[in-house]
Amino acid sequence: MKKIQDQLDLNQKKILLRLDLNVPLENGKITDTNRIDKILPTLKFLLKNNSKIIILSHVGRPKGKIINELSLKPICEDLNNKINQNIRLVTQNLNEIVSKNLFNSPNEKIIMLENLRFYKEEEENDNDFAKKLANLADIYVNDAFSCSHRSHASIHKITKFLPSYSGLQLNLEVNALNKITSEIKKPITCIIGGSKISTKINIIKNLIPKFNNIIIVGGMANNILKYKGCEIGKSIKEENCDQIIKQLFEMSERENCKILFPVDVAVGKNVDGISEIKNINKVLKNELILDIGPKTIKIINDIIESSNTVLWNGPAGYFENPNFAEGSYEIAKKIVEKNKKNSIYSVAGGGDTVALLNNIGVFNNFDFVSTAGGAFLEYLEGKELPGIKALN
Ligand code: 3PG
Repeated sequence: MKKIQDQLDLNQKKILLRLDLNVPLENGKITDTNRIDKILPTLKFLLKNNSKIIILSHVGRPKGKIINELSLKPICEDLNNKINQNIRLVTQNLNEIVSKNLFNSPNEKIIMLENLRFYKEEEENDNDFAKKLANLADIYVNDAFSCSHRSHASIHKITKFLPSYSGLQLNLEVNALNKITSEIKKPITCIIGGSKISTKINIIKNLIPKFNNIIIVGGMANNILKYKGCEIGKSIKEENCDQIIKQLFEMSERENCKILFPVDVAVGKNVDGISEIKNINKVLKNELILDIGPKTIKIINDIIESSNTVLWNGPAGYFENPNFAEGSYEIAKKIVEKNKKNSIYSVAGGGDTVALLNNIGVFNNFDFVSTAGGAFLEYLEGKELPGIKALN
């Protein structure tokens, strides 16, 4: 993968810069600017090198239609303020843009094209659409790791038509994930939570041979408790997972990787309720398991204490209700404590985990927090992402 930092001549070069500015919007306001903040170094780098930047991004899922609420306008404005540069949003139909008229004046440094997903050709990975985009510039840069699992025109096909490079943030993401999946400093522990075990099964399978401990928490753990014969009451669970769970345990034994799951839990009568701590064999039929209990927290913290590397994806409980956030908070606290002593390499990722770390203000106390959702998970499954493959 060629890095944009290694491209010597960027002076006055037109750069098509694919970013992932897919940030949450509520009534036209951005509710989390994390993805915008992360790409500022790339923009600053290109500006310093006198490039002319054409930003490409999508936001939301307009599915080939123009939806005004999904305009990049608020994002363009936010970026304007952060970078202290006038960034013009080009709303003209992409098919009508003439390359030589794209920049208004020699002084204009950055422009942004309107939401790529207003065109159905983007998601279709359309050859002509990619070519049209490519005709606007001299160089292509992918700094959208979180979109690189998509075979879309501005991620994949476009690399056919232009010299293509990775951006600064994409390199950071790939390096952090490589460090955790191949250049591991053992013992290495993965804490994996979230609601559905079926969506994470391939990750667990991919990690078992490389990791020492896999700790399963959150709604996913209910399936294991059920498999082990425990009552889980009205807790969320998936049907027909026993066979998969059996395979995971067999595999972990073969590979000498410990799989851990809760020994006690916090239950409630409903998700908005108060919590009560119970051993796993004491859950009642009318209760929901909504967090891990103190004994489980202690076991997890001891494992983190003796680990050199930790990967975290998925909260330990229903943290939206503070009564069930204890498990996730304690895990975060322990990782941060070890991080401050420089005695662990820690990576976290996935939408809910990032929201949780933001909530408790420890985002910057991890070695790396991925901005990616789906791409982060697919990378951990060991899949080759089309956007990365195209850069190689
Ligand atoms: C993301 O938010 O993970 C990326 O922007 C990709 O979005 P998508 O899941 O709509 O393709």
